[in-house]
This record gives sequence, C-alpha cells and structure tokens, in this order.
Amino acid sequence: MGTISLAPNVFWVGVKHHDRRLFDGLIPLPHGTSYNAYLIVGTNKIALIDSVNPGFEGELVEKISQHVDPSKIDYVIMNHAEPDHANAIKHIMTLAKNAKMVAGAKGRDAAIMYFDIDPERIMVVDESSKIDLGGKTLSFVDAPWLHWPETMFTYLEEDKILFPCDFFGSHLAVGAFYADEYGNDLSLDMAKLYFAEIMMPFRKPGQNAVEKVKKLGPKVIAPSHGVLWRDPKIILDEYTKWTTERFEKKVMIVYVSMWGSSLKMAKALQETLVKKGVSVNIFDLTVTEIGHVAKELVDTPVVVIAAPTVLGGVHPVAAYATLLVKTLRAPTKYGVVLTSFGWSGGAVKQIQSLLDGSKLEVLGVVEVKGPPKKAEFDKISDLADKIKEKLDQL
Ligand code: FEO
Repeated sequence: MGTISLAPNVFWVGVKHHDRRLFDGLIPLPHGTSYNAYLIVGTNKIALIDSVNPGFEGELVEKISQHVDPSKIDYVIMNHAEPDHANAIKHIMTLAKNAKMVAGAKGRDAAIMYFDIDPERIMVVDESSKIDLGGKTLSFVDAPWLHWPETMFTYLEEDKILFPCDFFGSHLAVGAFYADEYGNDLSLDMAKLYFAEIMMPFRKPGQNAVEKVKKLGPKVIAPSHGVLWRDPKIILDEYTKWTTERFEKKVMIVYVSMWGSSLKMAKALQETLVKKGVSVNIFDLTVTEIGHVAKELVDTPVVVIAAPTVLGGVHPVAAYATLLVKTLRAPTKYGVVLTSFGWSGGAVKQIQSLLDGSKLEVLGVVEVKGPPKKAEFDKISDLADKIKEKLDQL
C-alpha cells in the first residue's frame, strides 16, 4: 500500500493492521486498526511523528523510503510511549544515526525504560518549544494522561495539522483515509467506541485537551489510529460532550439469565420504562461484545444489572460487566439491580462489593427467590417511576 499526502511534504506512512482482532487482550477490533505514522519533510530537516506496532518496522521503513532516505531523518517525535506507536522508534534511530528522539519530560523517562533509547539522543520539549524543519514548524501541546502520563500532541503550524496520537482515534483499518470518506456518522460511532474503552476514565484531562485544541484551531486532526478529521469541529463537538458527562435521557439494561427469572424482570422494567416514554437499550451479556457496553456507558445515566446468583455470587458474566463500569470510571449516575436465586442469595452483596469506590448511586434492588411474581413486578414498576423521576431531573 502506498503513502498519502496530507499537505505538501506531509505524508501518512503508517500501517493498516486489518486482521488484528484484540487490543490490550480486552478490546475487540471488528475492523482491525491502523498505526498512523507521519513524515514531515522540511527544506532543512525531516521529522517522523510516531511509529508503528512491533512487527511492522519494515513496512514503515519502506513507506518512508518512498519519500526520503530513512537514514536522513533528523527528529523522531514520540507523542506517546505505548509500543503500538513507539516500539519502532529505536529501529528508526538505528537507521538514522544522527536523529534525535523528541518527547516531553515524562516521555523521555518512558523511552529510556521501555525502549532503551540513549538519553543523549533525546530532546525534551514542552509547550514553549518549537522545531523548525524549514518551512514546517512543529510545536507541542502538553496533554498528560491521555491515556498514559507522558502523552503530548504535536502541531504543524503552517499546515495547521494536529497529531494527537491516541486522542480522537478509532480502531479502524478501512480503505477510507478521512472520516468523511468513511462516513462521518460511522466514523463517530467507532470514535465513541474507542473513547469509551481508552479515554473515558480520563475525562478531566480530556476536557483540558479539548479546550487547548479548540484554541489552536487545527484544519486537520490526524490521530494515530483510524480515520483523520478534516472537519475537526465534528469530532471536537462529540469529545466536548463525552468528556463533560452530558447524558442522554436513556437507560441501559445489561442482563444474563439462566432460567428466565432475571430476563423476565429486565423485560418488565424495559416495557414499563418504554411506556413512560423512556428510551431503553438492552444488552444480553452472553452475546454482546464488551466494547458495546462500554460505548453505551459514555452518555447513559442509568445502568440496570439483571443477573442471577450463581454459587453464592453474581453470575460471572455480569460480574465482568459490573467491574467494567468501575474500571472505566463510567460517568453513569444511577444503578439498579434485578436478581434471582434458587436457595441462597449472594449476587447483591457481590455487585455492591464490585462497585465499591464508584460514584454510582443504587436506586433500588429487586431480589427474588425463584421466578418473579406480582410483588416483584410491583417493585419493578415503582423502580421505573423512580428512574423516570431521576431522568426528568437531569
Ligand atoms: Fe495506541 Fe495508547 O496506544
């Protein structure tokens, strides 16, 4: 595959990893992913921004070679130290013997620790730094904790292109290069999935970064995964919502059921809420990819967990989803538990324990021995009233 020009002498030299199916041993990748590296050729100096995942060094070098001799690279910018972007930096610096690696102060330490980069070859930059390549000026945006402590963005001033690495990214390896070519709505959907899994726990640093980017006013946002945004307002507007916890008035029900009791309660609550005009998204946890649960958490204020007790605790599939709410630090405000057991309970206690430390307020619990009957359905009806009331107050 060839390279793509973003602007005069600015090239995408990344890799599309079509058949990658999992990230971090956790995140499903239905459309693969890409590692977007960028080459900027000034009249005096050459810079490479980020690199590629282990195993793709040869493809990166081949793409760079279409434009310049890789040994002539002067700067290798490391926006983020995670190996999917930084692992090939050492390989490039072995070829480009005079190249400096460029990173923030924390990036410097990470590069030495993870990749054994010679400290003498690292140039530390901050927001006051500029690198003049000759007609192409690079400046830097301090953007920590997106999603590691050392993250920063690089900005190409003349062409107004922002390189924010993971931020604004999406796991996509498709033919389209820009979001509008793939379809803005589809691109946003994948960006939201990515945000949920990677950036959602870091909403506050995300807010700060969004404001900095708005002030910069880039013409193009070129992340290091997935499609690029040449109408940055589209992705900036969504990131503004996602980082500032702007909820939609909807409810999410996640359920797993062994003999139908939990499912009956979940459906009863769904039907009652729908009759009240509340939008409900219901997920069968046995067949739902966990990423879709995470994506829904970005802007859903109420999550309902419906699951039975199994051997003294909650069904393990529901335990995983519950833990995800806490681990991803979902903004979700309210929780509801619907649960059943045969001879002894335990699910409620374990769910409470799993959520310990989260900000979720539990609005109510319905627990039944055996199948649910009128008493439980009445409680579910009362819970629906309570949920509606909370949604109306948002
Ligand atoms: Fe795409 Fe955090 O690395």
